[in-house]
Amino acid sequence: MKQHLNRRRFLRTFTLATAYSSLLGKAWTDLVAAEIRLMSTSTTGTLRLKLSNFPALQSEFGSVRLAINPLRADLMPDGQFYPVIINRGPNDTFYALNSRCTHQGCTVDPLDASTNQIFCQCHGSVYAIDGRRLAGPATGSLSRYTIKFDGRDLLEVQIPSLGYSIIGSNVQGTGGSAPRFRLDFRATRKVEYEIQFRESLDKDPAPIPFSATPDGAADQTVFTSASTANASLYVERKSPAGFYTVAVRITEI
Ligand code: FES
Repeated sequence: MKQHLNRRRFLRTFTLATAYSSLLGKAWTDLVAAEIRLMSTSTTGTLRLKLSNFPALQSEFGSVRLAINPLRADLMPDGQFYPVIINRGPNDTFYALNSRCTHQGCTVDPLDASTNQIFCQCHGSVYAIDGRRLAGPATGSLSRYTIKFDGRDLLEVQIPSLGYSIIGSNVQGTGGSAPRFRLDFRATRKVEYEIQFRESLDKDPAPIPFSATPDGAADQTVFTSASTANASLYVERKSPAGFYTVAVRITEI
């Protein structure tokens, strides 16, 4: 029954908010914090996917299912978010669907390219590539997210409630340790986060280690919260300026 859970799993990270740090002790912290709040007032998060990273989406009727938090064996999400299903139709059409079955809330399968249908393993409901209900006990269609394709390689999917703000601030290191930068954000239960850094916007961000306490060793790479709560993560400031990002790690299942 769980054929799709046995697929090769791999992680992608998605950048949903960015905090800017310009350092060297200038009086910038308040200004920057205000800018960051303004940058990230929306609660909608945008998943940006490169088609080139997803072989399944490179042909018509390809499909991927992306988990933002874990999925339990009973096909219910272990966390706030259902996986997002992205289906490719003919002529560069794309559909982004909430995988929550409208019958009793199980997570439905990705699109089966051989039938061009989406199946719910719990009680057999069937949906079309665009989420329309076709058969079974489901009471309605799968809900759809707004999705945009740039005609080349980039897909953007708007996911309500996935966005979050980040506030960045300088903290002094203690006992001669390197000065640190603190990133505050609202962490959603069971979602995995990592921190990325780049010195300038034309560079690719790279993951960097952090600490969950002001003085602990900065050697963590993934942060997960057992409950939805405010989180503060601390990174060492090693360069005079740059961009820190709190990114969500997403798994294809
Ligand atoms: S929960 Fe999907 S058919 Fe019942």
